[in-house]
Amino acid sequence: MIATECGGIRHSEDGPGEDAGRFEEEGHTMTERTQVAIVGAGPAGLLLSHLLDRAGIASIVIDARTREEIETTIRAGILEQGTVEVLSESGASDRVRSVGHRHEGIELRFEGEGHRIDFAATVGRAVWLYPQHEVLKDLVAARLAAVQDIRFGVTADAVDDVETDRPRVLATGPDGERIEIEADVVVGADGSRGVTRQAVTGAHGGYFREYPFAWFGILCEAPPSADELIYSNSPAGFALISQRSATVQRMYFQCDPDEDPERFSERELWDMLQERVPGTTLQEGPIFQRDVLRFRSFVAHRLLRGRVVLVGDAAHTVPPTGAKGMNLAVADVVLLADALRALLLEGDDRPLEAFPERALERIWKAQHFSWWMTSMLHVAPDASDFDRRRQVGELRSVVESEHGRAYLAEAYTGWPLAR
Ligand code: DHB
Repeated sequence: MIATECGGIRHSEDGPGEDAGRFEEEGHTMTERTQVAIVGAGPAGLLLSHLLDRAGIASIVIDARTREEIETTIRAGILEQGTVEVLSESGASDRVRSVGHRHEGIELRFEGEGHRIDFAATVGRAVWLYPQHEVLKDLVAARLAAVQDIRFGVTADAVDDVETDRPRVLATGPDGERIEIEADVVVGADGSRGVTRQAVTGAHGGYFREYPFAWFGILCEAPPSADELIYSNSPAGFALISQRSATVQRMYFQCDPDEDPERFSERELWDMLQERVPGTTLQEGPIFQRDVLRFRSFVAHRLLRGRVVLVGDAAHTVPPTGAKGMNLAVADVVLLADALRALLLEGDDRPLEAFPERALERIWKAQHFSWWMTSMLHVAPDASDFDRRRQVGELRSVVESEHGRAYLAEAYTGWPLAR
């Protein structure tokens, strides 16, 4: 029996088989031990727990939000082909292929004319329209069916002993109770405002860029206005015509980052959307949800410190144009799951040490793509006539070139995953 003294709490361990055990309650602190403590039950945290479980590695997942909040928050809807393959082949979601819609192209529209980027013809790949909250519903259901320890309503307050081989998450439960989770590895999957980013990067933060615009997003009850997504550049600004189902549509238009979502009437919203998609008559219907999405690009200066590692939005943020956010989180997790298998099953720490460098290759490619789609399609508030004409030249050089279309298709459908 090994006995350890940790944070003033004495607890004991009976050997490797006891890894996911609950230890002891002393005062108001519950200390527990697992192999991997995952902070955040978003796509990254849940998928990681799923892939680890398949390898026989135990984890505890905590999230400050309730299950309902996690499953209903509206996010982007496009999954890269590799993301769909990971979700369906690992058994995390079989609904993605049956309920999701395969899209073999998108349209870029400028100067009132549509130009199709044909994914199938250029790169032989596709994407799936399947909203992120549906992925989350599938992942939560799959994890709970596998008796995964997920704690909803548990807020991580700090990560301690980061540079030891027993890092700890200090957290507070829904009734104010204090919880400590000691693990071989702590994974920060708690998004851009979580505590794990700070634990890894310290004061160094990361590479950061802000944008002078945001997206005004709506959900409405209406039939689709087009068969495929339309990314439209117009003198009035950018708009994206996306979809959710036969009866619900998702659309966005470029707005000021400080815009008040309640300021406009439905009529005004439809007029603004319509003005930004010349050439298509939008199918209108009741708008039942509106939100403003701010744009940021961020990459943490460090992804790994000791035995604490960042994935997903905790490690990086992209502006939404091109829908790379969740797909990038999945790519991080696929790579990290392999590294944790090597560490925890074979005692080989090299893949974990190499994780930041390997993950960052894709992260910076996705950063570039998201920035590029954003800058190519939006109208900066201070754009000059030169800037506007140059932008149309850029769009034209993409859609009129086989190689330009292929680059966009390759990046949009997703580079191969490290598998
Ligand atoms: C959606 C969001 C995106 O950022 C994008 O590029 C495409 C689609 C969406 O929410 O449907």
